[in-house]
Amino acid sequence: MVMKPRIKRLDEIIDKMVNVVEDSKDEIFYISEDAREEYERLVIELNETKDKVLKHIKAEKELSKKVQTSKRHLSEVSKSFDRYSEEEIREVYEVTHNLQTKLIMLREKERNLRLKRDDLERRLIGLENTINRADGLVGKVSIILQYLNEDFQQVNEILKEAKEKHKFGLKIIEAQEEERRKISREIHDGPAQMLANILLRSEIVERTAREESLLIAVAEIKNVRQLIKQSLQDVRRIIYDLRPMTLDDLGLIPTLNKYLSTTAEFHEVSIDFTEFGTEKRLEPECEVVLFRLIQEAVQNSIKHADASHIHVKIEITKNHIIAVVTDNGKGFDPSIQKDDSFGIIGMKERVDLFGGKLVIQSKVNKGTKVIIRIPNQ
Ligand SMILES: Nc1ncnc2c1ncn2[C@@H]1O[C@H](COP(=O)(O)OP(=O)(O)OP(=O)(O)O)[C@@H](O)[C@H]1O
Ligand SMILES: [Mg+2]
Repeated sequence: MVMKPRIKRLDEIIDKMVNVVEDSKDEIFYISEDAREEYERLVIELNETKDKVLKHIKAEKELSKKVQTSKRHLSEVSKSFDRYSEEEIREVYEVTHNLQTKLIMLREKERNLRLKRDDLERRLIGLENTINRADGLVGKVSIILQYLNEDFQQVNEILKEAKEKHKFGLKIIEAQEEERRKISREIHDGPAQMLANILLRSEIVERTAREESLLIAVAEIKNVRQLIKQSLQDVRRIIYDLRPMTLDDLGLIPTLNKYLSTTAEFHEVSIDFTEFGTEKRLEPECEVVLFRLIQEAVQNSIKHADASHIHVKIEITKNHIIAVVTDNGKGFDPSIQKDDSFGIIGMKERVDLFGGKLVIQSKVNKGTKVIIRIPNQ
């Protein structure tokens, strides 16, 4: 009852987590794609800048040669005042000065280009790191998604099982209560009422003996005895239903024999019982569990299968105890779990507790075979 919303909530939480993680994965993917595009753009820019640097170096070399030549020319011209007019000297001076200014500007440009190149190279290293980290993250996030999608499914299955066990636990409590109600009703309606009746009748017998005739009293005692006999039968049947005492006293096989023959007679169905290797008694708890398992399988065949024939086989080997209950009834689909049915779940639980295995083979209209296999400790 309490588990249902919890499982639903857990499902919702996992779904939300999966969505968030999937969104993050997409985001990381976009970041990595952006970084890749930026990287490619920067590579082109870096190559262009490198080209420009080379061109500037070449231009600088040529220009500095020109400056040298011009300087030499200026010093020659400056020394020979007599041969050159003032105008001519200024002209040479200006040419040299212009060339020098150009060279300074060219060097400044080249310096800037080198700085840009270094900066681009640094940024490329940074981007490369970002791309690698993003790729690594995408991988990790994929693993997380896999955990969420696959491993948490298992958690869900475990929770589902826990929920079934919880329901089974409640069903056991309900069943115990129901059983007690049934027993108290049976004792109330049967032996208790009869005892009250017997008490009343014995008082009548006493009065009859005292006040009327002894003969009538003796006849009445016969009736009382009949009532006592019936009560005894009732009490025995109730005790047997609670727990066949023969199970402790005589063991599993005689108890099964008796149970199967009374059941066959009561329900008018034929039940065969075969046993192998059953000479030795088993552990008491093992005998009880096998009796209950076979009882539930037989009850199911009677209640649900509409079978005309049931076969119960039990085989005890050194390592295993194998019990098989087969019916020729209408069969069913064992993969479908009915909401209010706990017989088979209970069988599974019991077999699990003993480290065994329960297999149900059944097909609609093809009968049912229940195979119980428990290790023989
Ligand atoms: N031998 C069988 N032949 C046909 N149907 C069967 C047989 N055994 C079980 N079933 C089907 O499987 C269902 C589940 O059986 P299960 O023993 O778990 O519960 P139940 O008998 O309905 O109730 P409970 O055992 O809790 O009193 C049954 O209701 C019935 O439909
Ligand atoms: Mg049942």
